[in-house]
Amino acid sequence: MTTVLDPNIHNLAIEGTFDDAQAIVKALFNDQEFKKKYYLGSVNSINWARILAQIVYYFYAWFQVAKDDSEQVSFVVPTGNFGNVLAGYYAKRMGLPIDKLVIGTNENDILHRFFSKGEYHRTELKETYSPSMDIQISSNFERYLFDLAGNSAEKLQHWMEDFDRTGKLTIEGELLKNAQNDFVSARVSDEEIVRTIRDFHQQTGYLLDPHTAVGVKAAEKTDLQTPVICLACAHPAKFGETVRKALGTEPELPEELAVLEKLETHSKTIPAVTERIKKEILETLAAQS
Ligand SMILES: Cc1ncc(COP(=O)(O)O)c(C=O)c1O
Repeated sequence: MTTVLDPNIHNLAIEGTFDDAQAIVKALFNDQEFKKKYYLGSVNSINWARILAQIVYYFYAWFQVAKDDSEQVSFVVPTGNFGNVLAGYYAKRMGLPIDKLVIGTNENDILHRFFSKGEYHRTELKETYSPSMDIQISSNFERYLFDLAGNSAEKLQHWMEDFDRTGKLTIEGELLKNAQNDFVSARVSDEEIVRTIRDFHQQTGYLLDPHTAVGVKAAEKTDLQTPVICLACAHPAKFGETVRKALGTEPELPEELAVLEKLETHSKTIPAVTERIKKEILETLAAQS
């Protein structure tokens, strides 16, 4: 995005984490007047259209693997913002014969702690080798919790307000059992990511990116009784340094990516404060008109 130099494109970087950025975007979206007036939209999985599109490949993948109409398969999904795996959950709700949805987390394992112990408890964010999953507050998790709460907006509101206040949401009993009926989870460390990339490459010749390696290792850690489909989600060349740790050499960048590296970029870095972003938007618009 930063290589698009057109004068109507403005890239803002913040001095903060993905969680900080997403919290700001959500705060702006919650300001309904501002959102409507300036036509705010999102292209990550805050936007339901992305989830909708992702549902499709669960069906496609099932058709490639299932031998008859009722054969159950399991999907393993490297998870951060709970977007991709939520699409799988909706596919299951639509009737696709899915046995388990396996959540693979990196060391930011809040989702693993929820599905294994019922504890959605916020901790410090850690930088890992799978940076697109360095997330504590999964935007789409609320959408799943709405379902788990029996489509009760009041219960969801109560849970989310409690979580905002205390950093903790805990479920047990029947609710936890319901969640574990659809999902299992595993946590994968940075060390395991490197080892998985190395071993998988040695055994099959296929080069995993660090995020996909989380999924493959999570599959190995989980006892599944049905055929398993691991979703791959990034190109290994984007994470050359981690691949080098595993194989001793960096993968070659595909031509399309190599070209981008040489292009001029533009972006502006500002503090991770909602009001500063708002001000920046207003000032930029005023300067343009
Ligand atoms: C490469 C990669 N892996 C994993 C994720 C996890 O996101 P989600 O759990 O929302 O699918 C992302 C997010 O965009 C990503 O870019």
